[in-house]
Amino acid sequence: MKSRTTGSWTPVALSADLPAGTVIPARTPTGPIALWRSRSGGVSAFADRCPHRGMRLSHGFVRGEALSCIYHGWSYAQAGNCVRIPAHPGLTPPEAIRVATRQVEEGDGIIWIAADQSATRPPRLDGLAPLRSLTACAGIAAIEAAAGTDASPGGIVGFANNSQTIRMLVASLEDEQALIHVLVEGDASPPERIAASRAAEALRRMAEHIQRKGIA
Ligand code: FES
Repeated sequence: MKSRTTGSWTPVALSADLPAGTVIPARTPTGPIALWRSRSGGVSAFADRCPHRGMRLSHGFVRGEALSCIYHGWSYAQAGNCVRIPAHPGLTPPEAIRVATRQVEEGDGIIWIAADQSATRPPRLDGLAPLRSLTACAGIAAIEAAAGTDASPGGIVGFANNSQTIRMLVASLEDEQALIHVLVEGDASPPERIAASRAAEALRRMAEHIQRKGIA
C-alpha cells in the first residue's frame, strides 16, 4: 500500500532515535517492523515477528551485527538469515530459517522503509532537518485541512505560525492515523525549534478534532 504523500516510502523514524546497537518498533501501512541498527551502524528493517514462535523481534536486542530474539535467543543477520540457535550451539541454522526483511534507506536524518522492492529513492528534505516525531489519530486529509494546504509531492505540509513557516513530513498509517516528523531549517535557533514543536502539537490537536467530527 502506498502513501498518498510519500509514495512507496514511509518515513518511520528519525536517525537520531536509533543509536548503534539498538532496536525499536516502527509502524508502516503494511505492518509492524523491528527497526535496528547494528554496532557498526547498519540499519535493517525486519517484519516484527520471530520465525520461531512469533515473538516480537522489536523486544529483542542487538548483538554486534545481528538481532537476537528475547524469547529463545535465535539471532538473525542483517540479510534476515538465522545465524545462531542457542539451544543447539553446534548447529549451523538451515538457510530456510529467515525473517522477512524490508528495503530501508537512510538520508537527511530520516529512516525510510519501502512498501515493496522500490526502484525509486525516498523524497529528499531539501536542506531541512528533522526535529521530532509525532503520531496523529487523524488522516492526511484532516492534517491538510488543519494546515489549510495540501501536502507537497514530497509529503511536506507547511503552514504559517506567527512569522515562522512550520513544515511537517507526513505519511499515512493504517486506521486513519498518520506519522508526522517536524522539520526545521538547519540553522534554526532554540526558540524557533521550540515554537515549531509546539505549533506542530497544536496542529495535530486540530487535525484530530477535524477527524473526530468528520469534517475533512
Ligand atoms: S520466539 Fe524467537 S527465538 Fe523463540
